[in-house]
Amino acid sequence: MAYLLGLDVGTTGSRAAIIDESGLVAAAASADHAPMAQPRPTWAEQDPRDWWRAAQEAIRAALKLGNIPGGEIAGVGLSGQMHGAVLLDKNNDVIRPAIIWCDQRSQAQADWFTEKIGAARLKEITCNPALTGFTVPKLLWVRDHEPENYSRMQMLLLPKDYVRFRLTGGFFTEVSDASGTLLLDVPKRRWSGEILDALEMKPGQLPQVAESHEPTTRISTEAAAATGLRAGTPVVGGGGDQAAGGVGNGIVEPGIVSSTIGTSGVVFAYTDAPHLDVAGRVHTFCHAVRDRWHVMGVTQGAGLSLRWFRDNFAAAEIREAQAAGKDPYELLTAQAASAPPGCEGLIYLPYLMGERTPHLDPLARGVFFGLTARHTRAHMIRAILEGVAFSLRDSLEIFKDMGVASEQIRASGGGGRSPLWRRIQADVFGREMVTINATEGSAYGVALLAATGTGRYSTIQEACRAAIRVTDRCEPDPARARMYEEQYQIYRSLYDRLRESFRAVAAIR
Ligand code: XUL
Repeated sequence: MAYLLGLDVGTTGSRAAIIDESGLVAAAASADHAPMAQPRPTWAEQDPRDWWRAAQEAIRAALKLGNIPGGEIAGVGLSGQMHGAVLLDKNNDVIRPAIIWCDQRSQAQADWFTEKIGAARLKEITCNPALTGFTVPKLLWVRDHEPENYSRMQMLLLPKDYVRFRLTGGFFTEVSDASGTLLLDVPKRRWSGEILDALEMKPGQLPQVAESHEPTTRISTEAAAATGLRAGTPVVGGGGDQAAGGVGNGIVEPGIVSSTIGTSGVVFAYTDAPHLDVAGRVHTFCHAVRDRWHVMGVTQGAGLSLRWFRDNFAAAEIREAQAAGKDPYELLTAQAASAPPGCEGLIYLPYLMGERTPHLDPLARGVFFGLTARHTRAHMIRAILEGVAFSLRDSLEIFKDMGVASEQIRASGGGGRSPLWRRIQADVFGREMVTINATEGSAYGVALLAATGTGRYSTIQEACRAAIRVTDRCEPDPARARMYEEQYQIYRSLYDRLRESFRAVAAIR
């Protein structure tokens, strides 16, 4: 029997999922990453070598759990957190910690870059405005603040492509992840010579770009020894975690949208051609489907908000969960369920790491609004779940304005596995939320891409049709949906009222 392996290099950990040729998950295992370093508020860094350590552990653990010999893995697909800047020197060593997707330090560089290329031209080439979340501003921050490190850079890689380098020795990326760099000509699906020239970068400093299902390189002898995979196993392009998750959720045709709550929160839709929001509030990137694109709205602090609460205020739940062999999040969401919908007027703005959609504002800050002495921990936890859902609704509203169809919404990610968070989303969106049989998201998506790239399916749509089906539906409750509609309007007004205060707070050193 042949199997395919998908590896997702996330923010909090790496996950390996092994599927059989029919798309059934045979085994899956994770390994945690060291927590991201936050040397200053809204900065975020990770050591790429730690991703590689976790990737090896996750792959070995999945093979062991499934009792699957490495030789039976016929292909590997890679997915990963997007936008992070991994800089390698002439010996292919990591120069400094990667500045990762949610880091917000580079607004000055984003402005410089917009000016250099011209806002309109930048949009024509990359389909997006320059945001601090994307790779180029992070790279330019290194140029401006650490010129010595910048001058040593021989290769710029995205997170999963660093792991690909360690697995294969080859330098490759693929169109979906490359779209989030601001270096790709998104309509043409290749690096933009014009942007490289403007940045005085050499094409040799970037990996080769493939389509997501295309085989790139093969597992090296050293990586085979480190992971248990067979040397020579082909590794396909794969995808940025969101495009990969799009495939894993079957978002490969118009009308089906996913709402994924991982560390970030993302509402994702397939499009036949590049489709742009005039204000650039949602991203327009290449899809992991050949010659197709996608749009997505991103909440920076989705699961991150609940993790922040857990890490800072839930020592008791962590201890209790450990003793009972449970997940602390289970205990926290059980508490949230005891608070009434709407939290008696308590509203949370999830802007702990600034915000992308819809505000594009690195200086936005998290807020609990409407606190009274009556409110409890349970209200605060529930307010976090509701605030994240409000923020995802912002993206759905923009899709509606753009004319992007969203006939069905699929719940995905860790947050999508929580029945309470699914119910809250259904009520806040006023829409049915469906659950599908495939729950491995991005890792599953790239395993399907590996199945397609190694000839098991002729297209990724065919792979998704064969493997993915709807298993459950959660309808909105009309009364709660009406109540959330009112609360959503208040939620929306809060950012505008607080915008200048966010700036004032950020200016205090
Ligand atoms: C997408 C994005 C995040 C990261 C981490 O644009 O920044 O989804 O990929 O998951």
